Amino acid sequence: MSLDGRLDDASSSRLVLSDAADLDRVDGVRAASDAILVGAGTVRADDPRLLVRSAERRAARERAGHTSSPLRVVLTTSGDLDPSSALFTTAGADTLVYASPGSVAAVRDRLGVEVAAADGLGAVLEDLASRGVARLMVEGGGAVHTALLSAGLVDEIQVVVAPFLVGDEAAPRFVGPGAFPQGPGSPMTLVRARPMGDLVLLHYRIGDPDHRWLAAACDLAERCPPSETAFSVGAVVVAADGEVLATGFSRAGSPADHAEEVALAGLDPSDPRLATATIYSSLEPCGARASRPVTCARHILDAGIGRVVTAWREPSTFVEGRGAEILEEAGVTVVELPSLAPLARRPNTHLTQ
Ligand SMILES: NC(=O)c1ccc[n+]([C@@H]2O[C@H](COP(=O)([O-])OP(=O)(O)OC[C@H]3O[C@@H](n4cnc5c(N)ncnc54)[C@H](OP(=O)(O)O)[C@@H]3O)[C@@H](O)[C@H]2O)c1
Ligand SMILES: [Zn+2]
Repeated sequence: MSLDGRLDDASSSRLVLSDAADLDRVDGVRAASDAILVGAGTVRADDPRLLVRSAERRAARERAGHTSSPLRVVLTTSGDLDPSSALFTTAGADTLVYASPGSVAAVRDRLGVEVAAADGLGAVLEDLASRGVARLMVEGGGAVHTALLSAGLVDEIQVVVAPFLVGDEAAPRFVGPGAFPQGPGSPMTLVRARPMGDLVLLHYRIGDPDHRWLAAACDLAERCPPSETAFSVGAVVVAADGEVLATGFSRAGSPADHAEEVALAGLDPSDPRLATATIYSSLEPCGARASRPVTCARHILDAGIGRVVTAWREPSTFVEGRGAEILEEAGVTVVELPSLAPLARRPNTHLTQ
C-alpha cells in the first residue's frame, strides 16, 4: 500500500507500488501457499494471473508433492467476471470461483471453471480446508481484506508500505471502515519489520500468543531441507515476557538434527528464564528416535522448560512417539492446538499420504 494506505490510484491503469525485490518476495509467499484468494474487484481491475513466476520455486513445490502453483480462488457475489480474464484462460493452476448459492450454475456455464457456493466467508474457508488448503494467501483487494479482518478470520498480515502518497479519496484503501475484533489477541503483534530500499515490510500476527507462536513454528518447518526419511518440524522457545529465546528447524545444521534440539542448543542452560519459558513445536517432541541417543523430550526436561505447545501428535511413521506422555509424566504442561495441525503437516505431505 501507499504511505496513505491506498492499494491503487483511482485511474483505470494499475498503480505499481512494489519494486522487483518485493515482487520476488511476494512470489516466495505465493510458492509457500496452497491457494491464493482475491476478490472479483481485483480481477476486474488488474486481471492478474496469480501464478508462481520462478521456475525454481515451481519445481520445488512439485518435488514437495504440491501443484506447481497454488489454487487460484475468486470471490464474487454478482458473478460479474469476464470469461477472458487471465485467471480463466491462462494455464499453470486451477481456478475456483465462489459465487452466491443461487448463481453457481449460471456463473459456471459462463466462466468454464469450477464454481462453488459461498455461504459466508467462514464456510468458504472451511470448504478450502476440506480441499487440502492449509495456508491461504489473500492478495486483495480492500473489500476482501476488510471482510476477512472484521470476521476475525486472519492469522497474519504482511503489508509493504511504498513511499508514495496517492492522495485521492476515491482510491481503494488497504482496509476500509469495519467493526474489527477487539480483545485478547488484538491488536496485532509485530513479528518482523524489514526495510527494502525505500519500501518497508511489516509482518503482524493476530491471535492469542500460543496460536501466534505455534504458527511461527509451523512457518519455520517450511524451511527444513527436504527429506524422505524424517519429518520437517519447526520450534520456537519463547520467554514468559514474549521474548524469543531461540528458534530451530529440522536438519538446520546436519541431517540428523531435530527442530527442538537445534533451538535448545542455542540456549544458555543457566538462563533463569527457561523455567517459565514455553517451547512451541509444530510436531510433538520425540520420545524415541532412531538417529541419535537423546530424544527431544529429554532435551526439554534437561533444559528445565515447563511448558510445551504442539500442533500435531507424532504419527508412527518412523518410531512410536510417546513424547507428550513422557513430558507430562515428568510434570511438563503439554498443550495441543489441533487447529494448526494442517499447517504442521503441510511440509510433510509426501510422508503422510
Ligand atoms: N496493491 C495491491 O497489492 C493490490 C492488491 C489487490 C488489489 N489491489 C487493488 O484493489 C482494488 C480492488 O479492490 P476492491 O476492494 O475494489 O475489490 P476486491 O476486494 O478485490 O473485491 C471485492 C469483490 O469481491 C466480491 N466479494 C464476495 N464476497 C465478498 C465479501 N464477503 N466481502 C467483500 N467482497 C466480496 C464482490 O464481488 P462482486 O462485485 O462480483 O459481487 C466484491 O465486490 C483494485 O484497484 C486493485 O488494483 C491492489
Ligand atoms: Zn526430536
